[in-house]
Amino acid sequence: MIDYRSKHVNICIRFGQLPESSSNNMAELLACLRGWHVELATAEIEALAPHTKFAAISPRLLASSSQLKTAELQQIITCSSGVQCFLDDYVSINLEHESVEELLEKATQMIRDAKFNGALAVRTLRIDGRINDFSTQSTAGKIGSIAVAEQFTIDLENPEFEIGLIADGGSNIVACGWLVGNFDDSIGTANRRATERPFFRPISLDPRLARLAVNLACGPIDEQAVLDPMTGTGGFAVEAVMMGRRCIAVDMNQAMVDGTTQNIAWALQGQPAKNDYLVVTGDACELPETIENSWHGQISGIVLDPPYGRNSHGSKSHYDLISKTLQSARAIISEDAKLVLIVPIIPDKNDTGEIELLHGQWDELNQLLSDCGTTIIGRWKEHVHGSLSRLILLASIAPLD
Ligand SMILES: C[S@@+](CC[C@H](N)C(=O)[O-])C[C@H]1O[C@@H](n2cnc3c(N)ncnc32)[C@H](O)[C@@H]1O
Repeated sequence: MIDYRSKHVNICIRFGQLPESSSNNMAELLACLRGWHVELATAEIEALAPHTKFAAISPRLLASSSQLKTAELQQIITCSSGVQCFLDDYVSINLEHESVEELLEKATQMIRDAKFNGALAVRTLRIDGRINDFSTQSTAGKIGSIAVAEQFTIDLENPEFEIGLIADGGSNIVACGWLVGNFDDSIGTANRRATERPFFRPISLDPRLARLAVNLACGPIDEQAVLDPMTGTGGFAVEAVMMGRRCIAVDMNQAMVDGTTQNIAWALQGQPAKNDYLVVTGDACELPETIENSWHGQISGIVLDPPYGRNSHGSKSHYDLISKTLQSARAIISEDAKLVLIVPIIPDKNDTGEIELLHGQWDELNQLLSDCGTTIIGRWKEHVHGSLSRLILLASIAPLD
């Protein structure tokens, strides 16, 4: 926990020094995704940078010719679950038909074009396996020597600037550019577990999925809030507050409300939240009455992880509960709001593309969602274990007139 937060602060300070435009060339940006769910990570970066077009040059490497401000890149790195880092002004080769010498030539130009110099480190990252007959360490050393010839000094402990060298074993692409973010995966949500929180229940969502869902629903951080109408142990709410988002968490069970409050306080580590948040006891089917008026019309994202099977509360069916929750949310959401709904499904072992819900029928749920003013934008499956997967649905949801 402490490492996660303090290392991100370091990143911000260091990259605060990177000039807006680091070369004379047309800026080319490369995003490197974490490997746990590449499709979801792609959707997340598209949500966090909605005006930027990315094109995959390999499953985990997305290129863009858009110019994102350094602060925007930092925000994506700091709050995203699936984006590992960016290489700014990157150059690349494909070792199937290009040589390391060609990469070094391109890297020389990239370094020469930089409008800054100072203490530098070259960092390396291998993704999706090894590339035969290619050494990241030796290539990094050669890039370091080029940088020294161009008036940089090498400081591996406390560099002002970092060059990232990524070798993608899946595609044989090797890319190099000014590193924004970090190759150290331990600072990501992968190393934080819901079980570490003071209030844990088996229903608790994995932090990396919870964070990704909040980002899908809300996009870039702004003054709009995220609504978690059935917060349980606060899986979504903790992530939202840690990112500095405005957040409303509701649960009908007082123990869950107390537990979520405790989990948020624990995550904040005594620091004040960057934005206001509300954890409130109430019925998700009566959100306008449960949530203070001052929040109405200021909710741009809903994240919904409803109870199923034996966890289900009260006399309502699953569908009735989801339907009433969405209808009551529609009374208080803003224009252009989005919904992320998480539903347990039976694993699609033969990859048929069919959706088999653990409880109920997909057609029925699909109809219900359409009746509740939603339009599905994307859907993804996530493997949980041999007999359980999750369906993650992203939809637009229209406010009630
Ligand atoms: C699957 S759990 C949510 C788990 C949560 N995402 C987490 O990370 O801990 C569903 C929650 O919905 C709550 N719930 C069920 N019906 C509700 C209702 N009508 N209004 C508000 N909360 C409700 C339950 O108390 C339970 O905590």
